[in-house]
Amino acid sequence: RDKDNMSVILLEWYDRHAREMPWRVSPQARKGGTLPDPYAVWMSEIMLQQTTVATVKDYFIRFITRWPTVADLAAAEDAAVMAEWAGLGYYARARNLLKCARAVVADHGGAFPADHAALLKLPGIGPYTAAAVSSIAFDLPHAVLDGNVERVMARLHDIHTPLPTAKPELMARAEALTPATRPGDYAQAVMDLGATICTPRNPACGICPWRDPCAARVAGTAADLPRKLPK
Ligand code: ADE
Repeated sequence: RDKDNMSVILLEWYDRHAREMPWRVSPQARKGGTLPDPYAVWMSEIMLQQTTVATVKDYFIRFITRWPTVADLAAAEDAAVMAEWAGLGYYARARNLLKCARAVVADHGGAFPADHAALLKLPGIGPYTAAAVSSIAFDLPHAVLDGNVERVMARLHDIHTPLPTAKPELMARAEALTPATRPGDYAQAVMDLGATICTPRNPACGICPWRDPCAARVAGTAADLPRKLPK
């Protein structure tokens, strides 16, 4: 089973089952190849780092409504941004949000760079966020490795090495599967699969688009993976 088949199968599933989120473009627009606003993708990904999708939705809408562009956010008062962030926690994220917005305006003319290495240099943007923005907003083939993707990769390949030791292998697997076509939709499809079907407990293997190629389903180990070293 080659990677093109695997990604086509998952993208077909995503086209039917993608979760609607305020930072995603509509299924209709997606068909036409419309990509989401990099500013919206970046903001959502920063918010989603330590906060659930359900909580982030309302905060995201309030931020985007109040500061519709990265230039608007860059010009905001620090205290206004911190107050709007209240309740999301991990306040370093809010301070970096402002720093990053100001750097995008000062150093990139107010447009997020369509380049993984350039994104990585911005305040608060680490490997995860750089991969998420470059794939989701710019359709560049970078693999996004969050907890959902780690779980999906560990199961698909029946990897028993515990986390965090397994991370490099899981990243290599995620990269090897990332397609040249629609890598941004693909990245979000793997995350949605992990959030809705390949869940930590009671994975719904019977309705999984990847049930056939999944090594852990065949081995009966899916619910035990990924393994984790005791903290
Ligand atoms: N978790 C973090 N980013 C996400 C995204 N873009 N789609 C779904 N889940 C996510």
